Amino acid sequence: MPTSAEPTRDTAAHDGATHDTATAAHDTNDDVWKSDEMVAQWVAGAAERERRRAGQRRLMAELLPFDDDEAFTFVDLGAGTGAATKVVLDRFPRASAVLAEYSPQMTAEGERALSGYEGRFRYVEHDLARGGWPDELPSTVPAVISSLCVHHLPDPRKRALFSEIFEHLAPGGWYLNYDAVSTEDPVVEAAWLRAGDRLDPEAAAKRAHRSPEEERRHENHVRHMIPLAPQLGFLRDAGFEGIDVYWKELDYVLYGGRRPASG
Ligand SMILES: C[S@@+](CC[C@H](N)C(=O)[O-])C[C@H]1O[C@@H](n2cnc3c(N)ncnc32)[C@H](O)[C@@H]1O
Repeated sequence: MPTSAEPTRDTAAHDGATHDTATAAHDTNDDVWKSDEMVAQWVAGAAERERRRAGQRRLMAELLPFDDDEAFTFVDLGAGTGAATKVVLDRFPRASAVLAEYSPQMTAEGERALSGYEGRFRYVEHDLARGGWPDELPSTVPAVISSLCVHHLPDPRKRALFSEIFEHLAPGGWYLNYDAVSTEDPVVEAAWLRAGDRLDPEAAAKRAHRSPEEERRHENHVRHMIPLAPQLGFLRDAGFEGIDVYWKELDYVLYGGRRPASG
């Protein structure tokens, strides 16, 4: 049985799950991320997943415009156990992180996972679905990162979040997001599945034989997931420049941009 709360590849379009149909229904996000059992399963699979995405994590850190020995504080939104944070802290030994997270279980696991970085990180409780920028977060930061979390937010919140990030970035400050996206093009979707199944020979069987619990996790995973293009549009509308998809493989992307240096 897979030990991941991130299901095997299967797109939102494939399931017919869209943000429009999901918004009125009970939001299952809490059921996944505030469940001891689900979080324990997610943590159990973390080492293997992190091995697979080490390159993307590293690239996110390399895109940050800081000198090797520069002291700066960044914010990690929906930080979970701090997998993205850790890579930035390793890359920039004088950096400090503020991790925004709404799950007590993920926060507790993160406190443990980051214990070797004592004094360089703190968690702030924050529900990204509610919005606003809590006072406990620095009001101006030179960098904000997020990974594998924005896809859990309904579209109006994705859009509003990108504006909130922009407002709280220092001039020239960067926002980078690593996440999964969906597609509305069935040809693209079939290509993603074909290649994904060839790269992971167990993927098709896992998809075909989900337990009810895995099915719930999968539904939660895809329910607010949307294509890449509108997300880049939200960045543009918020005022970001230097917007690019800095890395992409099938349905996983690393995109971002910066607040203009003046203005
Ligand atoms: C797939 S995990 C990714 C964690 C981490 N960013 C990483 O890359 O390993 C998704 C995280 O988003 C958090 N999350 C989901 N919805 C959230 C919300 N509304 N507000 C804050 N965090 C949220 C979950 O609790 C979980 O820690």
